[in-house]
Amino acid sequence: MSILHVENLTKTYRSGGRDLTVLHGVNFTLEPGDTFSIVGPSGSGKTTLLGLCAGLDRASSGSVYLNDIRLDTLSEDQRAAVRNEHVGFIFQNFQLLPTLTALENVMVPLELRGERGAQKAAQALLDRVGLGQRGHHYPTQLSGGEQQRVSLARAFANRPKLLFADEPTGNLDADTSDTVVDLLFELNREAGTTLVLVTHDLELAARTQRVIRIRGGAVVSDSGQPVSTPAPTVLPD
Ligand SMILES: Nc1ncnc2c1ncn2[C@@H]1O[C@H](COP(=O)(O)OP(=O)(O)OP(=O)(O)O)[C@@H](O)[C@H]1O
Ligand SMILES: [Mg+2]
Repeated sequence: MSILHVENLTKTYRSGGRDLTVLHGVNFTLEPGDTFSIVGPSGSGKTTLLGLCAGLDRASSGSVYLNDIRLDTLSEDQRAAVRNEHVGFIFQNFQLLPTLTALENVMVPLELRGERGAQKAAQALLDRVGLGQRGHHYPTQLSGGEQQRVSLARAFANRPKLLFADEPTGNLDADTSDTVVDLLFELNREAGTTLVLVTHDLELAARTQRVIRIRGGAVVSDSGQPVSTPAPTVLPD
C-alpha cells in the first residue's frame, strides 16, 4: 500500500484570459515512512504540486491517491476531512490565522478533531519548537522564523501520516534551521510520518531518501525511479 500515489498530474491555471500549464503529467509513488524532497527552480511548480498532493487544490487532470483515497473525486468538504485526518502542511508563507494567538493556531487541528487536552498538547508542541513562552503572541508579533516554527508545531499537531513542508527552513538562521530539520526527521523516525519537503537547500534535500527534480512543471530526475517519459522541452529559466 502506498501512502501517496500521483498519476499523470497536470495543472493549468487560467488567468487574464490565458491558460498557463504549470504541471505536465507528474507521476510518483511514495511508500509509508519515506522521506522525499522536491527541488527545482523558482516557478517550476513545486508549491502547486505540493498543494495538489495534500488535497488543498484540484488538479486539471490526473489523480492523487492519499493513503489509497482518491482525492480528485471528492468534494471540497470530503477533501478537508481527509486532510485533517492524514495531512500536516507547513506553508511557504506560514498561513497562520492572524486573529488567533500562536497557541490557538496550534490548537486548531486538535479542536477540529474534537480532541480533549488540545491546549496542553499545543503547549507541548510550542515548547518543542522553542516557543513555549510565546504562546500568547499573535502572528504579527512574531518574526518570520518564529511564525514558521508555529506553523511547524501546528502541522505536527494531528500526528499526520503525511507531512508536507514547503521551504520549511526558508526563513530560518542556520541554528534554528537545524532544530527544525531535526524535528522533521525525528517525527519521521518516531511516528513513521512520511515527509515530503520542497527545498532550495540541496544539503537538506540530500538528507531525504529520495529526491525528485522538477523543471518547467515536469519531472526531470527522480532518484527513486527512472523517468520513463521524456520531459517536454522547456524554456530556460
Ligand atoms: N493561482 C495561480 N494563478 C495563476 N498562476 C499561478 C497561480 N499559482 C501559481 N501560478 C504560477 O504557476 C507557476 C508555478 O508556481 P509555484 O508556486 O508552484 O512555483 P514554485 O516552484 O513553488 O516556486 P518558488 O520556488 O518560487 O516557490 C508560476 O509561474 C506561478 O506564477
Ligand atoms: Mg513555492
